[in-house]
Amino acid sequence: MPIRREYPARSVDAADIAAGRIDAHYRKILARLLSAHALAEKLTALGYQRALETVQNPALREVLDKNYREEKTHARIVYRALEEIGITEQQADRSMISAAKSPSFEAPMYFAQRASGEMDVLMASLALDATGSIMIGVNYGESSYAPHARAAEVILEDEAGHEVFANEQLGDAVQRFGVKKVSAALREWLPRAVNFFGPPGTGFTYDCIRYGLKARDNAELRELYLATLGARCEQLGIAMPELTRDYPHAVA
Ligand SMILES: [Fe+2]
Ligand SMILES: [Fe+2]
Repeated sequence: MPIRREYPARSVDAADIAAGRIDAHYRKILARLLSAHALAEKLTALGYQRALETVQNPALREVLDKNYREEKTHARIVYRALEEIGITEQQADRSMISAAKSPSFEAPMYFAQRASGEMDVLMASLALDATGSIMIGVNYGESSYAPHARAAEVILEDEAGHEVFANEQLGDAVQRFGVKKVSAALREWLPRAVNFFGPPGTGFTYDCIRYGLKARDNAELRELYLATLGARCEQLGIAMPELTRDYPHAVA
C-alpha cells in the first residue's frame, strides 16, 4: 500500500518548525536526513580534494578542481539548512558517527580517505555523483521542506555536470585501460555504490515518505541506478557484476 503523504511539496519552512507549527518528530527526521546529506557532500568534496593530490593526469585537473569546489558548496548549503533548524555542523556530524561506519557510507568514506589515482576517481564519481543525482533529483526536488527542495535544485544543476564527467570518463577509461581493468574496478566499486542508497524499507524511510521528505524507497532508487549504469556498461562492453540480493550488497 502506498504511504500517505502528510505534507505537500515545499509546504514547510524553517519558521514553521521554529514556531512549533510542525510535528516535533518531523524536525527529528528532517535533521537526520539533512545530516546524512550534508556529510555525504562533505566527504565527496574531500574525495575530490584528495584526487587533486593523487591523480597525475593534468588533463583532469580542471574538472577535479571544479567538482571539488562545487561539492564544497553543496555541503555548505545543506549545513546552512541544518543551522536554520538549530543544528550546528559539529552536532550534525556527531549524530552521524555510527551511520558513517555503516555500509551505506562506505563509498564516500573510501573516496575521502583511501581512493587513489584516476580509476578510483572515476569509480567514485560513478558511485557518488551518479547515485547522488538520482537521490537528490528523485527524492528531494519535491521535498515538503522548502529549503531542502531549493537546495536540491541548485545542487542538481552541478550534479548533472558531474554525471556527464563520470560517463565520459568511463568511455575514456575503457580506451586507455581496457575493458578488463575497468570491469575489475567496477566489481570493487559497484557494491559500495548501491549500498550508498541505504537499506530498503526502513522505518526511517517510511517516516521520510510520510512527511514528504523523500519520494521513493531506497530500493527503487537503487534499481533506477542499476538500470542506467547497466545500459551504459553494455554500450561499452563492460560486464555488470552480479550482486547479492540483500543489503548490504556484495558481488555475488
Ligand atoms: Fe554534490
Ligand atoms: Fe557531485
